[in-house]
Amino acid sequence: MGKLSGKAAIVTGGTRGIGRATAELFASEGADLALCARTPEALEQAAGELIRKHGVKVFTCAASILDRGGMDGFVNAAGDALGRIDILVNNAGASEQRAAGGSRQQVYAVDPVSGPLPPGRFEDMADDEFVNAFNQKVLALARTMRAVLPWMRKAGGGAIVNVVSMKGKQPPPRVASSSVAAAAAMNLSKSLSLELAADNIRVNVVALESILTSQTEKSRQRWAPDKTMAEFLAPRNANIPMHRLGTPEEVAHAIYCLSAPLGAYITGQILSVDGGGLRGW
Ligand SMILES: NC(=O)c1ccc[n+]([C@@H]2O[C@H](COP(=O)([O-])OP(=O)(O)OC[C@H]3O[C@@H](n4cnc5c(N)ncnc54)[C@H](OP(=O)(O)O)[C@@H]3O)[C@@H](O)[C@H]2O)c1
Repeated sequence: MGKLSGKAAIVTGGTRGIGRATAELFASEGADLALCARTPEALEQAAGELIRKHGVKVFTCAASILDRGGMDGFVNAAGDALGRIDILVNNAGASEQRAAGGSRQQVYAVDPVSGPLPPGRFEDMADDEFVNAFNQKVLALARTMRAVLPWMRKAGGGAIVNVVSMKGKQPPPRVASSSVAAAAAMNLSKSLSLELAADNIRVNVVALESILTSQTEKSRQRWAPDKTMAEFLAPRNANIPMHRLGTPEEVAHAIYCLSAPLGAYITGQILSVDGGGLRGW
């Protein structure tokens, strides 16, 4: 018997990276799963592998977190298929940086402020950029959380983990739109943890920076196509106290701690999984 046997968990963006590692860990502990992403073939492949390896039920649905009706439909179909929803991992998403002042330097929350900072682009940020960031990083999470609540209440409780960029706590220049959205997602999570505690529904955040996923290779191709991955990562590693990027599996373990019964008394927390990159407490 796994520690999540008899539980059902939704993992948005469960086909690769952090979501896939989380689905793998949850399934290894016996949880039935519901996964969504935009690419049907990737969902089919992930579900096939998880069922073969762990013998759990896996419900999948091709849906974008930006599509309100689609996500409501996904959550309710997942509940119907699995009979319950105990855990929601709001993981799906992507972020994209834009160049500024001709600089090809990508910015990170762990960047030092001791030397000259990379050029900013606040004056070029149209309102739409803030609205889009808010849609993806806040409203998408809010809608999915709203949709799971009736299922969690029916199950007698639940655990929600929102996967949010550490930029919400430690913003670098140039990405103010996504940083303020991340900060709002953290604030929303704290607020809901208070609202839902009496229903035995816990809400926590994992705050991430510098995790090695397909996003990292995409960034290398965009920002430093002439460099090897090791060369691309070297200056970033230098700013991380642990001098390396994290792995999706390491994030999955943090998500697991916050969502499994062993985290039953933890709510309203922001757990940074960042190799020590957050400069405050
Ligand atoms: N890696 C990091 O260092 C880091 C740092 C800070 C925050 N994060 C956050 O952590 C989360 C996971 O990141 P990752 O690095 O594991 O990314 P990843 O490897 O690109 O995986 C993203 C997953 O989300 C799905 N997805 C993306 N956009 C979606 C949408 N609009 N609707 C539904 N599914 C969507 C993708 O599948 P499809 O493409 O098929 O939809 C995929 O399954 C993201 O929210 C990301 O912003 C990551």
